[in-house]
Amino acid sequence: RNVVTGIENIHNNDIGKEVEFKGWVKSVRKHKENIFVDLSYGIVKDKVQILIPLKLNPQVSPGTSIAVKGRLHLSPRGQIELLAERIKVFGKCSMEEGYPFAPRKTYAPEYVRQYLHLRPRYNKFSSLLKVRSAAELVIHEYFNSEGYISVHTPILTSNDCEGAGEIFKVIPDNEALLTDMVREKVPLHEAFFNTKVFLSVSGQLHLEAAAHSLHKVYTFGPTFRAENSKTRLHLSEFYMVESEIAFLEKLEELIQIIEELIKSVTKSLLNRCEDDIQLFCTENKISFTWLDKNFPILTYSEAIGILKSNRENFKTDIDYNKGFSKEHEIFLVNYCGGSPTFIINWPKVMKPFYMKECEDEDTEVAALDLLAPGVGEIVGGSLRENNYIKLKNRLPKLSEQLEWYLDLRKYGGVPTGGFGLGFERYLLFLLGINNIKDTIPFPRWPHNCSL
Ligand code: 4AD
Ligand code: MG
Repeated sequence: RNVVTGIENIHNNDIGKEVEFKGWVKSVRKHKENIFVDLSYGIVKDKVQILIPLKLNPQVSPGTSIAVKGRLHLSPRGQIELLAERIKVFGKCSMEEGYPFAPRKTYAPEYVRQYLHLRPRYNKFSSLLKVRSAAELVIHEYFNSEGYISVHTPILTSNDCEGAGEIFKVIPDNEALLTDMVREKVPLHEAFFNTKVFLSVSGQLHLEAAAHSLHKVYTFGPTFRAENSKTRLHLSEFYMVESEIAFLEKLEELIQIIEELIKSVTKSLLNRCEDDIQLFCTENKISFTWLDKNFPILTYSEAIGILKSNRENFKTDIDYNKGFSKEHEIFLVNYCGGSPTFIINWPKVMKPFYMKECEDEDTEVAALDLLAPGVGEIVGGSLRENNYIKLKNRLPKLSEQLEWYLDLRKYGGVPTGGFGLGFERYLLFLLGINNIKDTIPFPRWPHNCSL
């Protein structure tokens, strides 16, 4: 091997070889006859020190993109270093002209977030992007190794799966089409598809159709919610990992599947991205002791009981019919020892139409939420109602549009169950990040979608 192709490939055997590296200058230190530059290429083991003799007249400052030709040698400190012989500047960069990040300086996430387009260049955020990418891969690998089939569910859909009315409606913005419609008096919201169409809030219902043939299926894609929540935990566009399993009859089986998924994916990630995750661990004081324990399980009623007997800790009311506030969720996790905690058997009135009633209590449904420390809900799931009549009775208004969903029960129906894991909420929990907007490259939230 005579040519070293990239910074990530440097090896001790390469000392003495001639190379060309391209990348962005991370920092510059001036000495009497040389300047030292840290050059970043952007992948995992991605930084190399370059020694540039002043006689080359290097015009480099942090952020500048360059190509350097030279020879690899061993520095007096025993590091592999590139001794530059030729340098080409692609694009200059300077803080005087507005570049927002100084080398080796730490900034508050709110500051970095003001520059979404430059944020990928900020060290800590580039680590986040690497962990996010690895997490996506590991999740696909996990499902694949367990025999699940990946199914693409549609983004354009006529159902509001969660029935919460927090949906984005889709209408065409095509001038010629609109003119025709006005002439033909077609309602705008039914213009293109002859029915109201929304951006999907969940792929679940379509995934259930696939589970009735492929047995174990999953989907991992964007979902959209028009919630007017400007909290540190809500996005208008987020990614969800959803799975459906046929012939699943007990909530305990679903609990096991979710717990195994989260533990296994986290362990693989800790192996794969140790350095990048470490960066967050130290600063955000997170630990992974929960990996070796069983996730505690509380029924909804038990959880309400615990909250009521600790009522002096809360600013928000405890109301059986209203569910938990964020402070309640976080309290419950701490109360159970700080591991992710399942809350099962929820009041039927609080949950969507598709959830199955509990066997011994028909005012409750066999549903679960998984609450994570510091974050609260990261997973929602349930057994699905597979009794045709019961299901039909629970969707009077939507029954026409969801005739196809009833058909799943009519023809060879089976008990099924499934769940959705909020991908960004998982990353928040994994890395101890405070705000969900710092877990996704380009966050969308109310009043913010210009970049
Ligand atoms: O609890 P949710 O609404 O469940 C469903 O959509 C089911 N249909 C999933 C299924 O069973 N296939 O959402 C699932 C998860 C939540 O637990 C949360 O982690 C995340 O999606 N989530 C959000 N993440 C970021 N921003 C938002 N606005 C979110 N809303 C839900
Ligand atoms: Mg939920």
